[in-house]
Amino acid sequence: KELRIIGVPSDLGQGRRGVDMGPSAIRYAGLSAALERLGYKVEDLGNINVPTPEMKEQNQNTKLRYLHEVTEVANNLCGMVSQVVSEGHLPIILGGDHSIAIGSLAGMAQANTNFGVIWFDAHGDMNTEQTTPSGNIHGMPLAVSLGYGHDELVTIGGLKQKVKPENVVLVGIRSIDEDEARLIREAGIRCYTMAEIDRRGMAQVMAEAIEIATNGTDGIHLSLDLDSLDPMFAPGVGTPVYGGVTYREGHLAMEMLAASDSLVSVDVVEVNPILDEHNRTAIMAVELVESLFGKTVL
Ligand code: ARG
Ligand code: MN
Ligand code: MN
Ligand code: MN
Repeated sequence: KELRIIGVPSDLGQGRRGVDMGPSAIRYAGLSAALERLGYKVEDLGNINVPTPEMKEQNQNTKLRYLHEVTEVANNLCGMVSQVVSEGHLPIILGGDHSIAIGSLAGMAQANTNFGVIWFDAHGDMNTEQTTPSGNIHGMPLAVSLGYGHDELVTIGGLKQKVKPENVVLVGIRSIDEDEARLIREAGIRCYTMAEIDRRGMAQVMAEAIEIATNGTDGIHLSLDLDSLDPMFAPGVGTPVYGGVTYREGHLAMEMLAASDSLVSVDVVEVNPILDEHNRTAIMAVELVESLFGKTVL
């Protein structure tokens, strides 16, 4: 399969500037060259146009920050992803904050892909307009993709529900808002917390996660939030949480996904070079993507 890189320089879904430079940081860390070394044909489609927050006024009739702008970006990304997939290629979507995954998953659904989701994150990203403590849409994309949330967001790409809850897993979770927890339980998605990873090990957890996400589907969408990793390995993120996935656990997870040969699309999000130390987080992201696409030692 050929790979297509799509940059989405959005910080609209997050309170803090800088994550809009994620696509540049990841490209600068050598993503394309690394994938070509692994033997893939790679084409970089450039960046999607994203409005600048300073040029926009906050929406006054909703708690959701930059709702209309996030919707516009997601709509554009949805179209681009669905086209890439229809052409038989695998999209690698570079964020940007995690709100962009709304567009990724909508695009996969629009291209009629029957997929499961592995959501690698410190957070659940299962908030709605009712439960959000921040109003930041990057805390909501998984809920939206399951059909929960603001109408303007859940209807992007047509269908309301982009993925079945029985094919969705969260991995690396250690920060959930109180009311968000209720929706995670209610939705019936499998949530592998750090506590469970500690006890049972990443290998066991990923084996189950891959089984759940591929059960009755044609493949896996990986949504990789770099804050899933411990801030020791990925300090350049806007919402760091201690006690995360280690360097080797991260690579093990990606290597198991590569071995499953079931990846259909991937987001790499929340890399913020302004908060980083010498682009470490983007470099980490590229290394993880290399493992995801089959890099081995021998
Ligand atoms: N749960 C918090 C919120 O809703 C933080 C979400 C962080 N999400 C992320 N994609 N980093 O605001
Ligand atoms: Mn409005
Ligand atoms: Mn996230
Ligand atoms: Mn997160």
